[in-house]
Amino acid sequence: LTKASLDDLAVFGGVPLFSEIKPVGQLASPEPDRFLEEVRAIFDRRELTGNGPVVKTLEARLAALHGTAYCITVANACLGLVMMLRLVTRGRTGNVIVPAFSYSGIPHVVQWAGHMPKFCDVEELRHGLDPRSVRAAIDEKTVAILAVCNVNSACEISSLASIAKEKQLPIIFDSVSALGATYGGRMLGSFGDAEVFSLHATKMLNGFEGGYVTTNDGKLAEELIALRDGPRVNASLNEIHAALALLSLDMLDEIVERNRKRYEAYASVCARIAGLDLVPYVHAERERYTYQMAFAHVHEPWPLTREATIRVLRAENAFAMPYYSPPLHRSSHCPPGMIVPPMPVSESLAQRFMYLPVGEHTTIADVEALGELLEWISGRGDELRVRLRDSA
Ligand SMILES: Cc1ncc(COP(=O)(O)O)c(C=O)c1O
Repeated sequence: LTKASLDDLAVFGGVPLFSEIKPVGQLASPEPDRFLEEVRAIFDRRELTGNGPVVKTLEARLAALHGTAYCITVANACLGLVMMLRLVTRGRTGNVIVPAFSYSGIPHVVQWAGHMPKFCDVEELRHGLDPRSVRAAIDEKTVAILAVCNVNSACEISSLASIAKEKQLPIIFDSVSALGATYGGRMLGSFGDAEVFSLHATKMLNGFEGGYVTTNDGKLAEELIALRDGPRVNASLNEIHAALALLSLDMLDEIVERNRKRYEAYASVCARIAGLDLVPYVHAERERYTYQMAFAHVHEPWPLTREATIRVLRAENAFAMPYYSPPLHRSSHCPPGMIVPPMPVSESLAQRFMYLPVGEHTTIADVEALGELLEWISGRGDELRVRLRDSA
């Protein structure tokens, strides 16, 4: 480690540990030349968009990956969610049940689809909708459930799907963060009425931007295609994005393997540091995961608050981030004036976790260097806390 005194920390003007930013995101990078060959072929075919052959191949490959009858690509996951929420509610408007501890776009996609979000608490293990909270929240205004599967685990899919069935409500899964994971040994993609995935560069499959919807419901698939391709909106994926996504799909197994090694390196770093616990993948012995993310629970005796830790790490170009914080019902993403009861689990989880740098731009050596820095920090807690407070 190149740090000898606190002055060497980048937050106090020292040289950052990393010369380039170490981000939180997969950023899978197929060989640029391979990609450019595909781009040339697309131009040669003079078919740049509009359900061309690359999009069709991608859809077939993704349907096979997820074991679903249909895969419909879209311009991005947000638009996929908006369109699905419009379709499954069949002209009715009302409340859509959503988790309070989740991605900031969730309440917005619900409103873009013409509904209002109804926040429910999540459960401790999987960080997804708590079935008890969902059951208590359903009333005559409820028109759908939008459940989210997270990086470290799918949500309680069986219980939520049973509630949806019993109450005759459609249920959509936002599985953006869980692409490639299983639930009960079955690949995500075919649960509920439909599932939605992203092809954003930071996600498991990189299409620069993009998304897709998987379903076994042929009517819904047809309706989605009709909605996606106009005349009212255009939300289709183009050939060039699809070509990159296909190349990253070819690399999926190797990406997962690199992710798993990086995650294991973080596990051994965190095992040496009191108060930084790497969050486990739930039932990893029987489920499959892509180990895309690494996030830690920050707690005593770790000497700094999560926010102070993030400040120090970011200055070092390790782009740590709070994980889903603040919870949606306590954030600017909550519709103005909406009164939401306390959501104790969401509120508690939102204070705990910090994402660590991952993805193709973070090597095992980087994780080890970060580990050394964290160990060094943990031995200088009192001194560092005072310096940080004085320099705030
Ligand atoms: C859980 C979740 N859902 C949806 C999205 C939106 O994906 P996209 O950028 O493809 O619209 C994201 C993006 O980060 C996400 O994390």
